[in-house]
Amino acid sequence: MSRTLVILKPDAIQRGLAGKIISRIEEKGLKIVAMKMLLLDRKTAERLYEVHRGKAFYESLVNYITSGPIVAMLVEGREAINVVRKLMGKTNGAEADPGTIRGDFSTGIEKNLVHGSDSEDSFRREYPIFFKDEEIISYRKIDEDWI
Ligand code: RTP
Ligand code: MG
Repeated sequence: MSRTLVILKPDAIQRGLAGKIISRIEEKGLKIVAMKMLLLDRKTAERLYEVHRGKAFYESLVNYITSGPIVAMLVEGREAINVVRKLMGKTNGAEADPGTIRGDFSTGIEKNLVHGSDSEDSFRREYPIFFKDEEIISYRKIDEDWI
């Protein structure tokens, strides 16, 4: 079992797509073990995106992610990191396959609705930005034996 950090970015909230995106995660059989809505301050956004510092899109990315409320979630399941990345689709919504979250709801390369950790190392770095260990809820879902 592994975990990943998922963020519903400001466009997902503004466009009323939070429920649909969460449904895709639930319907795949992944388990949400922590969730909160928050407004990122600049310092926290810069910490989240420190790997992109210096890139041409960095400033714009920090402005975007701080532009409105977001929802952060920890999601658990078999190969959660890879599975969520597949559900999200390619970074550029215009190129993302239909059937993926970005492919179905985004044409943007920046405003692409959702973030998912891209590796175990990224997850370990990213999740403490949003959650304390005691905020992660350990529980059993009734469908776990079937997924
Ligand atoms: P994420 O980190 O949000 O899950 O997305 P990702 O791995 O698919 O993409 P990444 O390369 O890590 O880029 C992080 C976010 O920066 C914005 N971006 N803008 N204008 C551009 O060329 C550009 N490239 C990336 C997107 O919001 C992307 O998700
Ligand atoms: Mg990334």
